[in-house]
Amino acid sequence: MAGKVAIITGAARGQGLAEAQRFAAEGAEVIGGDVLAHDGIHLDVTSADSWAAAVEHAVARHGRVDVLVNNAGIHAATPVQDMAEGDFRRVLDVNLVGPFLGIQAVVPVMPRGGSIVNVSSLNGLAAQARTAAYTASKFGLRGLTKAAALDLGPLGIRVNAILPGVIRTPMVAYVVDAREAELAAGLALGRIGEPMDVAAAAVFLASDEAAWITGIDLPVDGGHMAQTPRL
Ligand code: NAI
Repeated sequence: MAGKVAIITGAARGQGLAEAQRFAAEGAEVIGGDVLAHDGIHLDVTSADSWAAAVEHAVARHGRVDVLVNNAGIHAATPVQDMAEGDFRRVLDVNLVGPFLGIQAVVPVMPRGGSIVNVSSLNGLAAQARTAAYTASKFGLRGLTKAAALDLGPLGIRVNAILPGVIRTPMVAYVVDAREAELAAGLALGRIGEPMDVAAAAVFLASDEAAWITGIDLPVDGGHMAQTPRL
């Protein structure tokens, strides 16, 4: 990872912040982007112009982009029958169109050996009630990952998805604060995830250690997917 140039989206807090810290600790040159004020640059993943500025910033300083972590995401907890069209489109725009625009922006300056990591979710495999937009976006991101892996493989660029289970971040604080003990008890490893659990997986997929891994879904979930519902 030493010397690799990494753009990480949604880097102001939560998993993106942990990824920025972990990639930097591994010796990467990190460019963190977010719509919130933070130490990195302003980047709105829904804007092609904003992506162009972020990539220009990276190239001006480092000459290339080796790694893109498409981490930024939003949630909207509304039953499908009550959801406003604009809210549905907004979630798709951030969680799915954003990574698409990011891939398009970085590929021209990404050398062979490059790696793109898309942060999907266990909601990319199955839904809960009140997650229509979010679940649709995360299924879509898994699909984008696989199709992009095929298109970019000949360019020497790998594309993989991480599927986090429940991770202690501001996005799900309302759930964790209310139900942490119950959630932890339902997992093989007996605890919910921490942002650094996901950051470690992102570092691995971005690294040359994963040189023959592309197009996969990597659950980081404490064993959530290993079990069927209890009888
Ligand atoms: P978070 O809400 O704590 O952080 C998300 C970050 O993305 C925020 O800093 C936010 O400002 C940024 N962001 C939102 N819209 C943006 C935009 N248009 N452009 C740039 N940045 C934008 O959430 P968390 O938990 O750290 O989520 C990171 C990723 O992990 C998301 O894609 C989320 O869907 C996914 N995820 C989270 C899980 C969890 O349990 N926390 C579980 C599974 C997936």
